[in-house]
Amino acid sequence: MFDRRWAVTPLTQELLRQYLPRLVEIDYDTIGEKWSSSHWSLDLPGKWELSRIATVRGIVTGFLIASRKGDKVHVHRAAVARERRYMGLGLQLVRELAQGALLDGCTGLSLKVHKTNVGAQLFFAGLGFKVTREDHDNLCMSATPDVIPGVRAHRPSA
Ligand SMILES: CC(C)(COP(=O)(O)OP(=O)(O)OC[C@H]1O[C@@H](n2cnc3c(N)ncnc32)[C@H](O)[C@@H]1OP(=O)(O)O)[C@@H](O)C(=O)NCCC(=O)NCCS
Repeated sequence: MFDRRWAVTPLTQELLRQYLPRLVEIDYDTIGEKWSSSHWSLDLPGKWELSRIATVRGIVTGFLIASRKGDKVHVHRAAVARERRYMGLGLQLVRELAQGALLDGCTGLSLKVHKTNVGAQLFFAGLGFKVTREDHDNLCMSATPDVIPGVRAHRPSA
């Protein structure tokens, strides 16, 4: 049974350095462009505030790397360790990103997914993303943050 002792926390530059081998391991079966170490460490607007890692019982199990593009947030990379998929971690990573982005005045979320990565397309479509256009081997998908399941328009009152 799924161990619910998971947490989603900001991916700081220090945590990226510390966990890079594990992130690369989790990312191994992402279809499409392979990332070099410079992709991972690239400094982008809002990246270290928006990006997240998920841990289960203290073990890094998933990640989402995003940055700010004007009033939108772009997801560059996201993956969950194979043995922990279909347990809600991917949704939780996107939900936390969307919740923060919405409260921060962001109007949209975007990403690219390889045309052959049907699983990821179904995952993002299930969260409310729509295909907006094709870009070479990728589909561009976008959503407004408020459509992501569990995202609330206002901060919960204390
Ligand atoms: C895509 C990915 C991040 C999803 O993570 P996950 O933790 O397994 O997703 P969740 O458990 O939160 O799933 C949320 C919903 O999406 C659905 N879903 C997840 N993966 C799916 C898939 N491959 N095919 C169809 N539906 C899928 C789940 O069934 C669930 O739906 P439900 O709420 O109706 O039950 C994960 O499969 C992954 O790491 N893939 C490899 C890396 C990758 O391709 N990343 C995307 C690059 S753009």
